[in-house]
Amino acid sequence: MQINSAEFIVSNTDVGKCPSEPIPEYAFIGRSNVGKSSLINMLTERKQLAKTSGKPGKTQLINHFRINKRWFLVDLPGYGYARVSKKIKKTFQKFITDYFEKREQLVCAFVLIDIRHEPQPIDLEFMEWLGMSGIPFAIVFTKADKLKPQAAERNTRNYLDRMLEGIWEEAPPHFITSSSDGRGKEELLGYIEHINQE
Ligand code: GTP
Ligand code: MG
Repeated sequence: MQINSAEFIVSNTDVGKCPSEPIPEYAFIGRSNVGKSSLINMLTERKQLAKTSGKPGKTQLINHFRINKRWFLVDLPGYGYARVSKKIKKTFQKFITDYFEKREQLVCAFVLIDIRHEPQPIDLEFMEWLGMSGIPFAIVFTKADKLKPQAAERNTRNYLDRMLEGIWEEAPPHFITSSSDGRGKEELLGYIEHINQE
């Protein structure tokens, strides 16, 4: 899919104030620093559309971007960032869970996982929560440039096997990506285009 336009629309902490245009929406979620904002920039080929940082905790709001005037990409704050206070963490969790529970036009959540890491309880639990809440999701493995292709394949397989040992009967759709070398861009955009047409 060709991306012709990518516009920042609004940031907020209240799902009730998110844009009301009834167009399909796709959200990126995952641990802080996993590469959510970078992935949005990679997909849209706009280097600074979403703000990124080497330090975790950069994105703190719900950010809407309108793509090709027809759908939204949403950049969310990360979860699992230990250095914010407990109170901030609670507020974060509340508006993120509110977002997922209330945003009716959300078509699919993309859960980002650093391809180098073993499965972590916080991600597995978050995906279980999505599953129980009836929210469709896909996994995006990030930072694949940091591993040799064989190791990337092996980690991906291990990850999905671990899910199948848990509550899942089938592996979710999944993508191997790198915002540094652009890997996975066509697959991910193709998937969005495909579900947009359903
Ligand atoms: P928060 O907003 O803090 O939750 O983080 P985020 O998930 O949005 O991560 P962000 O995109 O800001 O990237 C975090 C760091 O990882 C930055 O230093 C990026 O340059 C780096 N990074 C992101 N994606 C990749 C990737 O695919 N490959 C490599 N090598 N580095 C990446
Ligand atoms: Mg971010």
